[in-house]
Amino acid sequence: MQSNLKTQQDEIAAAMKNVKKKIVVLSGKGGVGKSTVASNLALAFGKKFPGKVGIADLDFSGPNIAKMLGIEGKRVEVQENGKPLPVVGPMGVKVVSMAFFLETTSTPVVWRGPIKMKALNQFLTDFDWGPLEILIFDMPPGTGDEAISIMQMLPDLDGVVIVTTPQEVSTLDTGKSLVMSRKMLGEESVLGIIENMSVFKCPSCDTEHSLFGEGGGEKMAKDFNSEVLGQIPFDLNIRVNEDKGLSEAFDYFSPIVTKLLAKLNKK
Ligand SMILES: Nc1ncnc2c1ncn2[C@@H]1O[C@H](COP(=O)(O)OP(=O)(O)OP(=O)(O)O)[C@@H](O)[C@H]1O
Ligand SMILES: [Mg+2]
Repeated sequence: MQSNLKTQQDEIAAAMKNVKKKIVVLSGKGGVGKSTVASNLALAFGKKFPGKVGIADLDFSGPNIAKMLGIEGKRVEVQENGKPLPVVGPMGVKVVSMAFFLETTSTPVVWRGPIKMKALNQFLTDFDWGPLEILIFDMPPGTGDEAISIMQMLPDLDGVVIVTTPQEVSTLDTGKSLVMSRKMLGEESVLGIIENMSVFKCPSCDTEHSLFGEGGGEKMAKDFNSEVLGQIPFDLNIRVNEDKGLSEAFDYFSPIVTKLLAKLNKK
């Protein structure tokens, strides 16, 4: 079993040999904004490195990245050598997602664990990413079997970005994924925490409301000796644009990308 995993890891590493940095977006909790953060990070990185940024949507059951980037319904092209190419989205971001293989947007993926893992392995080995500055992996929610198996498969990651909302039920669960990352990938693996939906910018009264409590990200950073990379407000434009496939929140994500690059380049 162990050698099987080693072979898989080697194959995946070979498929990604021209990828300079690989990061994972993770959270212990569902619906806190992992895919929103992953896709906006990809766009903000893509602005800096056009055509040299990739995003792999590893959430097979809820593959949202294609929708958020407005490339849902596109299909994967296969080159003459048989290697499929990622679909190119806004800012030249290269995207691999289960969404490109589903018949319709409401087709569910109802695979059990082992089949999912086999498909995932194929996903991670088959695609021709070309040379990339950075590849971002969007994870499914949780710290259960699926997340652990995926984390084991991914080759020499350069870091993990943790997403939480300020709410205690989120920071509690998300703290677990932070600990899991450190256990599996080493003490230095966590690049920091992004606190999403930190405040609600109300368009009608022009004030900020704390929807999910305050200071959760900071408290988590303190408790786990990490740092808050940035706070993203609950912004109706983000929600509306994502549904329209126009995800782009550079104002919020550009400073985070600058911080991440500084950290990644030190590694
Ligand atoms: N900062 C934000 N402002 C407004 N809406 C947001 C924000 N972040 C996320 N959302 C919305 O919240 C919902 C959940 O976000 P998202 O799908 O990114 O979460 P997730 O953690 O990836 O969920 P899952 O666990 O299902 O993968 C989406 O409708 C998204 O558009
Ligand atoms: Mg998601």
